[in-house]
Amino acid sequence: MTTSSSGVEIRRGLMGVYFDRTESCFIDGTIGKLLYRGYDIHELAENSTFEEVVYLLLYGKLPTRRELDAFDRQLRSDRDIPDDVLDIINKVKNGHPMDVLRTAVSALSAYDPDVRDNSEAALIRKGLRLTAMAPTIVAAHDRIRKGLKPVKPNPDLNHAGNFLHMLFDKMPSEEEMHIMDVDFILHAEHGSNASAFAARVAASTQTDLHSAVVAGIATLKGPAHGGAAEEVMKMAEEIGRPENAEPYARNILDNGGRVMGFGHRVYKAEDPRARHLRERSRTLGIAKGQPQWFGILTKLQDVMKPYQARGIFVNVDFFAGSIYYLMGIPDDIFISIFALGRIPGWTLNVVEQYRNNILIRPLTDYNGPMDVPYVPISQRN
Ligand code: ACO
Repeated sequence: MTTSSSGVEIRRGLMGVYFDRTESCFIDGTIGKLLYRGYDIHELAENSTFEEVVYLLLYGKLPTRRELDAFDRQLRSDRDIPDDVLDIINKVKNGHPMDVLRTAVSALSAYDPDVRDNSEAALIRKGLRLTAMAPTIVAAHDRIRKGLKPVKPNPDLNHAGNFLHMLFDKMPSEEEMHIMDVDFILHAEHGSNASAFAARVAASTQTDLHSAVVAGIATLKGPAHGGAAEEVMKMAEEIGRPENAEPYARNILDNGGRVMGFGHRVYKAEDPRARHLRERSRTLGIAKGQPQWFGILTKLQDVMKPYQARGIFVNVDFFAGSIYYLMGIPDDIFISIFALGRIPGWTLNVVEQYRNNILIRPLTDYNGPMDVPYVPISQRN
């Protein structure tokens, strides 16, 4: 916190500021604890499925078998996107996948029967439709830009498996489906992070869900938020071999730079989500005959060990990039995968904002000149 010359207290980046209450997600950054709706992320990552976690987030309780089956059936039946949106994707196919996703989600608002209905039930219906359709957008875009035909959603596959199938036109292995499912669970919700806050600010003006999700996607795109997984893998590719990792990282740090995949605004201990991707990055690397990526990441962790005393540990993105890379996913889609997992979280934030809405409108302390006389253009030099 700083105090300005006018005596105003300023918390830049809203660091440490609570702006509302939530029932969605509890984070204790000092010990690396994360709960969704009260349930420990470790239990969910080990025992649950993305579909079940989405139900938990949006309805506030774990479903019964019957509830989950009906919910899953609905999600599977909502995966198709209109041909017009496929045409739009085709027109903007040269854009970054996050820009294409943002554009396509925006376009979907024109086809959603509930677009003007901001009741809680309609917000959830729209959020679930976007959850179901977004993987179709990301996969279709990747194929269109490669000159390939989009693959139709496969109702026989779960959310994670269907995404991989649409991306590669190939049946994913059980292990790949499971890893993608866990990855979606880990990314589903995370309190008042920058993109959820952006979605809440949009919702606080009483705009619609599609607009709020577009704000979330736009905000997630930056390297300080969702872009780190892509940057970590670029860094690992530049490093090339485990023995190069230490000098590479030292060079970044000696020049005041940041090693991607480390540090977090809230976690000052290890991000609890990283645990579930670390071992999978190692085993997938061995299975794919490319153990060097995990070797490089391990060396980077060693170099960064002294920074733990300053609260800088690996975050969720550190191992995610290597997993996506090993699955053959293009690196510019890594952030989109984060977005696919996070749509339920953004939806929940919008629902909470609507439940007890107040316009989010903070202040900035004016620091410029005052009462400057206006000079007509003919008299300016
Ligand atoms: N490598 C080296 N030093 C770091 C790193 C890092 N990755 N992260 C933070 N630091 C240092 C900063 O240089 C700064 O040092 P200083 O006090 O000597 O100037 C100090 O730690 C505090 O950093 P801030 O940027 O003030 O902390 P903030 O909470 O604002 O930043 C952020 C968090 C943006 C995530 C930061 O740690 C970072 O840039 N990390 C790399 C990018 C990354 O991995 N992003 C993914 C975030 S996780 C997610 O969104 C899912």
